[in-house]
This record gives sequence, structure tokens and C-alpha cells, in this order.
Amino acid sequence: MKDISWQQLDLQWNWHPCAQMKDYESFKPLVIQSAQGCYLNLADGKKVIDAISSWWCKSLGHQHPVLKQALSEQLEKFEHVIFANTTNKIIVRLAEKLTQFMPHLTKVFYAGDGSCAVEIALKMSLHARVIGGEHLRRKIIALHNGYHGETLGALSVSDVGLYRQSYRAWLFEPVFVSPVYVTSAEDPKWETIESEWPRIEQSLAPYAATATALIVEPLVQGAGGMKLYSPDFLRRIAHWAKQHGIHLIADEIMTGIGRTGKRLACEYAGIQPDFVCLGKGLTSGWIPFSTVLTTESLYQTFYDEMNTGKAFLHSHTYSGHVLGARLALATLHIMETEHLYARACTLQTILRRLMQEVADKTGLLTNLRGLGAWVAADLVVPDPHQRWGYLVYQAAVHNTIYWLPPLTISDHTLSELKEITLQAILEVFG
Ligand SMILES: Cc1ncc(COP(=O)(O)O)c(C=O)c1O
Repeated sequence: MKDISWQQLDLQWNWHPCAQMKDYESFKPLVIQSAQGCYLNLADGKKVIDAISSWWCKSLGHQHPVLKQALSEQLEKFEHVIFANTTNKIIVRLAEKLTQFMPHLTKVFYAGDGSCAVEIALKMSLHARVIGGEHLRRKIIALHNGYHGETLGALSVSDVGLYRQSYRAWLFEPVFVSPVYVTSAEDPKWETIESEWPRIEQSLAPYAATATALIVEPLVQGAGGMKLYSPDFLRRIAHWAKQHGIHLIADEIMTGIGRTGKRLACEYAGIQPDFVCLGKGLTSGWIPFSTVLTTESLYQTFYDEMNTGKAFLHSHTYSGHVLGARLALATLHIMETEHLYARACTLQTILRRLMQEVADKTGLLTNLRGLGAWVAADLVVPDPHQRWGYLVYQAAVHNTIYWLPPLTISDHTLSELKEITLQAILEVFG
């Protein structure tokens, strides 16, 4: 069947995510034939660079041979067994690895996607308050421009207007606080936000006794506009939360497992969250698999006889899915053996240089920012109501003025990506 037919059939039946389906009338879905490394091979013979790692999850690119091997070995044994009342060597070895991330995070709970991991952390926080009789602590503090997923709880704590507004009647309202933004580690506010802190602290003060948790995307806000904020802001707000007995939830679903050049972005601020949520890059985007890491003390809050009603009865059919666990183990192994944490740091310099070249040649990009293996810049647009970013995306089919490529991307592909971005911007803006 020709491409065009697949596209037509797709639109006859499928409803795509995060889309106004009418847009597909003029901009048809790409028909993927195969994918290899950083490239998507289309049915019409064209190749496209996966410059945003398929929504930030394909950190090791497509078809990594070690992951393929790990998956096929596991498939020879078993593919999924209920994780209530069973265990296996793979999930035990993964838990052992994950609890080495931060010594105080000693327990691991599993889910499928990132939103569900966020729901679990939120529910554990609230449930711990219920068990502890802390009836006043019900509020969540979240950050302006934060994003934590699409399920009702995760969406409640996200500050993304368009995604949120239609569901307001069913969402709970957190308190939103603005972080202090920077563009790089060279920005003086990277080191200290001392002069701004008293104002922020004052805005937090009314919630010191009523908040149960503070939820953040550490340093990098993805869906909220690829924004970077100061580690000193994170350090201070985490410290404030600890001082007041408020749980800290670090949503590392996008930032975790090397994206920022460290295993966890929290490490830049030297903080110790009560919960860390991981997803996406944990399996290098091979399988929906997410985790919540938490502390011994939170675990012990729930630990008692069944008839006390303290058990955390949250259940997902695919919790602890062994294929995900096997892929996560292999991903963590590859990150070390292929030195990809270091590569993410090197990519920071290369990506910035290349995006700066696009900015210089077009004169249309501003506020260039990045940390580790991503870079972003804002288009200077003549009419803010026009969807310029979308037009550039249509012209390039490669990017939306940010690059967040697989960590395995070559320097050659990066240069190619720069050229394509440049041409796309020039095409749209003449
Ligand atoms: C920081 C963050 N949290 C949560 C999510 C939700 O993850 P998922 O789409 O797997 O539910 C995302 C997805 O983009 C994310 O970037």
C-alpha cells in the first residue's frame, strides 16, 4: 500500500496524542518504516532525525543492540507475571541499582508511565499525612511552568494553561511558586539567588503548616517551555520544605538518567528529595516503565498489620513489568559503559555552539539556554498569535527550536541537524 493510503487510513481511525486533529489535514503523519540510532526511516525513503528523542525518552536512540539482546534474552524466560506476591532476580537487581542513586532512597515502587509515577508520589505523601493524623497538611506546592503529566492528579500540579483549563472543574488547586530562571551556569543566579529569596520565602510562609508536598522538575522545565532555573533556588526551596516537614517530590521523568549530564538533576543542587520519580529514559523509551524511589522513613509509615488500614493499596496491572526492568538494567549499564553521562556534558557545549550559529545566522533566536544534552531558544516572532514554531517544525520535520537528541548522537548528525534547523527557519521567515 502506498504511503498516502496509510496516512488516510490512519486519519480515518486514529486520534493522535497532544494534537488538534484538524492540523493533520494539511500536515499528514509521517509513516515510519523503521528506526535506527538517531534516524527515523520513512516509508517514502526519507530519513528524519529524531531530534527530540521521541518526546524525550529515546536516550540511547533506536534499536540499540545491547537493549535488543537484553530484551530477547528476557523474552526467552518470561515476559510478565503479576508483581503482587512474586519476585524475580531482574527486579531485585534493578531495585539494588536504583537505591544506589541516593543512599537515603531505599525503597522502589513501580508503575508504567510517568504520570502514574507522579500520582503515586502524591498519593504516598497525602496517605502518610492521613496515617500520621496530620489533618492540616493537604496542600501541594508546585512551580509555575511545571509539568508532571496528564492524569488528573499530575495535571492538577502542572501549570500548563492549555492542557489544563478544560478540566479545571475536576482538578485540585496547588499553590504555584515562580522559580528563578537562568540561561546557563555562567549566569550569576546559578550560584546564588540570595537577593530574591526573602520575597519567595515570604510567599511560601502561609503554607508552611498546611502543605504536604512540594513537587518540582529539578532545574529543567520541559513541557512548560524548556526553561532552566537556578540550582540555588532548588537548594533553598528544598531546604525550606525540609525545615517545615514538607515532602519534596523530584520529578526526574525527563531530567533523570543522564539528560542533564548527571544521573539525577537534583545532584546539581545537592538536595535529598523524599520521592524521586523516574520514567522515559529509564528504559531508554523501549517500554512504558516508571518508578518512585522513596525513603525508609516513609516506607515505615505504611508498615503495619493489614487491619490497621495503613497499607499503600495502589495497584497497576503492569507494576514491576519484567521487560521494563530488564531494559532499565541494560540502560543503566550502557550509560556507564558507553560513558554517556560524560557525553551529555560534552553535548552541552556542542549543542549550544550549533544553536548559537543558527541564532547568529538568522537573527531570530533569543534566550538561548541548555544544560547537558538539550538546548533551546525562543523564536523572535513578528506576531505572537501566529504558530511560528509549528510552521518551522512543518518546514523541517526535525525540530521545534529545541534539540534534545539521543545521547548517542554523532557530531556529524548534529551538524546536519543544525543545517536543517537553519534552513527551516529561513524558509518560514523568508
Ligand atoms: C517532567 C515530566 N513528568 C511527567 C511526565 C509524564 O510522563 P508520561 O507521559 O510518561 O505519563 C512527563 C512527560 O513528558 C514529564 O516531562
